[in-house]
Amino acid sequence: MVTPGLLLKASLNAGKEFFRSPAIEGEPPAYRAPVMVPIRSIGPSHSERIERHLLALDSHDRYLRFGYAASDEQVRRYSASLNYERDEIFGIYNRRLELIAMAHLALSVDPTLTSCAEFGVSVLPQARGRGYGARLFERAVIHARNEGVSMMFIHALSENTAMLNIARKAGAVIERDGSESEAYLKLPPADLDSRMTEMVEEQIAQTDYRLKVQARQFWGILAMVQEVRRGVRDSRDRMPM
Ligand SMILES: CC(C)(COP(=O)(O)OP(=O)(O)OC[C@H]1O[C@@H](n2cnc3c(N)ncnc32)[C@H](O)[C@@H]1OP(=O)(O)O)[C@@H](O)C(=O)NCCC(=O)NCCS
Repeated sequence: MVTPGLLLKASLNAGKEFFRSPAIEGEPPAYRAPVMVPIRSIGPSHSERIERHLLALDSHDRYLRFGYAASDEQVRRYSASLNYERDEIFGIYNRRLELIAMAHLALSVDPTLTSCAEFGVSVLPQARGRGYGARLFERAVIHARNEGVSMMFIHALSENTAMLNIARKAGAVIERDGSESEAYLKLPPADLDSRMTEMVEEQIAQTDYRLKVQARQFWGILAMVQEVRRGVRDSRDRMPM
């Protein structure tokens, strides 16, 4: 289980293993405990990054994500139409503050189906296979429960083994209909644990993001100072002796 303590450790660990939990002693080297990664809720101020993330997906990934090979224009329209008030968007950022993975939990627009939500996710190719997709799913489940959602749907193409694996592992029932599959997961009601988990995870993710912003600013200033130093040195070297 991912406890608040483990999450805090993952967030503060600035080493190479930042996103991966350490190998477990006695287990084969390939085995890894569930990945721990700060996942934050994203607001409209990140819409450009969302668009950039989705535009970075190739046409096959867009086909898997949206059910059709969305054009750049359609991707732009989708990101511009995101409803940050009603829905929830989650993101994972790398140290360069690029959005490397994101999920969209769309709450039902039908007032008679308020207990339903749909989940969509994408991870950039270079960040796949690290458990980010599965973690985003877990994060969305916790949020959905806390919002009173009792059924989560995932629409996936039947060829999408990775997505269907994530849903199946979480206990979703999968109904295959030719090339398309519908997965639905019944959610238990919110409890103290789900509320605390979401609160702590969000707090850690916000702190992690702020640290990354500060680190980037620091490196920017350092690069500027070095540039100035280099300029001074060069002009000194050019001065006649
Ligand atoms: C689907 C997607 C989000 C998975 O992201 P990810 O971070 O690579 O997934 P994870 O690392 O959490 O892996 C989840 C599971 O899928 C399996 N998996 C990952 N990539 C796989 C692949 N190419 N083929 C088969 N299984 C794969 C993993 O082994 C894991 O299963 P396990 O827990 O049994 O080991 C990512 O491939 C993606 O963005 N695809 C394009 C968009 C898309 O398909 N979105 C989903 C439709 S909404």
